[in-house]
Amino acid sequence: MKVHVHFHQNSLRNFSYLLENSKGEAILIDPFSGDYWREFLNSKHLALVGLFFTHDHPDHYAGESVFSNEILRVAHPNARLPFPFKAVQNLDKIFIDFCDERSFLRINFTPGHVGTHLALEWWQDEVLVGFFSGDCLFNAGIGNTKNGGDVAVLFKTVQRLSTILSKETILYPGHDYIQRNLEFNLHYSDRHKLMLQFLLEMKEQYEKSGYQFMTMDNEFKMNPYLNNNDQENFFDLRRLRDQW
Ligand SMILES: [Fe+2]
Repeated sequence: MKVHVHFHQNSLRNFSYLLENSKGEAILIDPFSGDYWREFLNSKHLALVGLFFTHDHPDHYAGESVFSNEILRVAHPNARLPFPFKAVQNLDKIFIDFCDERSFLRINFTPGHVGTHLALEWWQDEVLVGFFSGDCLFNAGIGNTKNGGDVAVLFKTVQRLSTILSKETILYPGHDYIQRNLEFNLHYSDRHKLMLQFLLEMKEQYEKSGYQFMTMDNEFKMNPYLNNNDQENFFDLRRLRDQW
């Protein structure tokens, strides 16, 4: 399976993702820019067989209307989406026909940013190789809780993710906030030496080749919310980042 990424040049710095299998089929995750992806699918002669939505904020489901109503859409049962979709539960395997015998895609219920947030796990040869985190987890940060979220719930979710995501898992977040998060972390977290190093490296990499998707190994070093069992500190960081 291949991952194609589109970085949208909008103020929210959205990412969307397209998964391609060896049969010429594709799945879209939080499409956002339907026209871009329709062009992409046509140019590569790929058949779209499914759409997955991490949550019901408009910057994640926008763009879906350019695709046929017959294509399966998947989301949380209580997601408030303006189109019909198939409801899925935690740990459900989805798009089974799209996957081959060595891979699967599995739902991970990750509430906090909103109460109905889902992430998507990509397993290959029994390894969690990719985690499409939507707005629950970003590089060097986490999602906000200002639009229907709950920071105490997010704390529990991030604690759980800290234990299940392995070092080699690549994080595919819903937005590119790494620079702002690192700059914030430099001021407010005691992991700042490593973060400074990362920030400097990232700035160089941005100039050369744009966004770099990184493994959780790096995240565990620079994300002050992961492996953070101090609820008060977690809440403080989230609150201060809102004002940053
Ligand atoms: Fe969101």
